[in-house]
Amino acid sequence: MVETPRYRTTFVRLIGFLRPYKLSMGISIVLAVGSQAAGIAGTFLAGSVADALHHREHHLLPWLVAAILALGVVRAATMAGRRLIAGKQALAVELDMRTAVYAKLVRLSFGFYDRHQTGQLMSRATVDLQGVRFFLGYGLIFFFQHIFTIAGVALVVFFIDWKLALISIAISPALIAVAYRYSHVSHPLLRDVQQKMADVATVAEENIVGVHVVKSFAQEGAEQTKFEHRSEAVFGLSVKANRQRAFYVPMLSFLPLLAQAAILVVGGRMVAHGSLSVGSFVRFNLFLAMLVMPLRSLGMWIGQAQRATASGERIFQVIDEPEEISDTPGAHDLPAGSGRIAFESVTFGYDAARPVLHDIDLELEAGKVVALIGHTGAGKTSLASLIPRFYDVQHGSVSIDGVDVREVTLASLRREIGVIAQDPFLFSATVRENIAFGRPDATDEDVVRAAHLAQASEFIETLPEGYDTVIGERGITLSGGQRQRVAIARALVVDPRILILDDATASVDATTEAKIREGLREAMRDRTTIIIAHRLSTIALADEIVVLDDGRVVARGTQEDLAESNDVYREIHEHGMLERVFTEEVA
Ligand code: CTP
Ligand code: MG
Repeated sequence: MVETPRYRTTFVRLIGFLRPYKLSMGISIVLAVGSQAAGIAGTFLAGSVADALHHREHHLLPWLVAAILALGVVRAATMAGRRLIAGKQALAVELDMRTAVYAKLVRLSFGFYDRHQTGQLMSRATVDLQGVRFFLGYGLIFFFQHIFTIAGVALVVFFIDWKLALISIAISPALIAVAYRYSHVSHPLLRDVQQKMADVATVAEENIVGVHVVKSFAQEGAEQTKFEHRSEAVFGLSVKANRQRAFYVPMLSFLPLLAQAAILVVGGRMVAHGSLSVGSFVRFNLFLAMLVMPLRSLGMWIGQAQRATASGERIFQVIDEPEEISDTPGAHDLPAGSGRIAFESVTFGYDAARPVLHDIDLELEAGKVVALIGHTGAGKTSLASLIPRFYDVQHGSVSIDGVDVREVTLASLRREIGVIAQDPFLFSATVRENIAFGRPDATDEDVVRAAHLAQASEFIETLPEGYDTVIGERGITLSGGQRQRVAIARALVVDPRILILDDATASVDATTEAKIREGLREAMRDRTTIIIAHRLSTIALADEIVVLDDGRVVARGTQEDLAESNDVYREIHEHGMLERVFTEEVA
């Protein structure tokens, strides 16, 4: 992650998310202040009722009650208005933040995702967003509302009697401090509880997903113990949090009582001596009650602001992360061409200090099929991922039809390259949507044609709802070979100039492999194709073979050339020969 920005900067930037909502913020604050003012006025009049009763001015009563009711209506109306406007604004700010985070997450490079844990990123996108959301949405409005209430009430009580006012105000620092303290100590604990709950969920999820492994190794007992341990951790922390609550909440209700007791004693004596009216005595008690909530909230608010800022920092770390791989200024679209690929003295490493590809010079002819072979870890996947610019080279260049891939727009580059990974990821969506993923405007015919080319149409038609069958988590589960063919169809539907198949048939049985191979034969027509393969039968599709060893090209040629000269190829040849006999028997 990038260097963390300073605390105050983060706070200012968070507030910056409110900029588009200045007007509605302003209106909300005015309405909030208005409803509190009506509340204060109403409370004041309640005291006047007591005075009227005391002086037997009964004719005033109906007027006073009517005024109190009217103020109540004003209060209710302004409150409703504030809730409507501020509520919508809070949701809009949340939407903006979420959009900003996700917009960044989808733009970040492969390298970023190599370096960071999924769980970490997910928590930034959810938990941290949650932490900021409420504060940004309502925090400032509440802040102004509380400050106004405290200031307004303080002013009125000082106006009534400054000595009594001092007594009631004296409690404020203690109340704010205790509320702040509560918020401060409870938060880390609550976050731990949440964290431990996530641990429990992880164990539960792993046991459900990995139930086959758990059962086949007879580890039910051990797994249950593990689960119980984690659950007990949640229990322990929750009990602790409960203890905190049991202490602080009564404490927060008790503190104002001290002030009230003082006012009852001192104020009561003043009423008895006639230096304070009964009405003012009543007012004091009511105003004191009005103060308690804002004072408590203000203390909590400070804690909340700190947490929101900490969460904001983590969110800004994602937002500020350089994209690494993005369109260079002045990038143009990849010009039309036939798909010739050239690597020129390419050196590349995921960590610049540890290159995994060394000084590679390789030219792949347009429209030809090249098989890339080599031992595991030789750098085959790495080499292929430089073409769509999943990573940038450290030295040298990769070009397509004579144009450096760094000079063209990523969108135009990737549109021309179909990549099929070993274990392709399919979305929890219909078969049709999965195939059309790279080209949402594809017609049904395009989808069916691509499926047909990939030899997938046959099995798709036998699915319960054909192309409309939902696959993935909430749908039907496809076999490895079926997924692969859907992925091939997905790559073909965009009609790319270049096709890259990474280990495409390593995980499937021989019959399926033969079917996929048939699909490929069609799919590769008129495209430059790179097949990273381990099976001889797949390699047989290639016009030429390139052997990679320890990040270097060690040989290239036709099958016949390599059969005589290259050890790696011979190894595969011996192993693959048996495969091929088997394949042909079955297919
Ligand atoms: N590597 C890495 N970071 C990654 C991917 C790979 O450091 N995100 C390293 C691997 O540890 C390996 C080297 O890069 O040492 C080459 O990896 P790769 O290109 O994936 O090797 P392949 O030839 O594709 O190996 P396989 O046949 O197992 O797929
Ligand atoms: Mg690989």
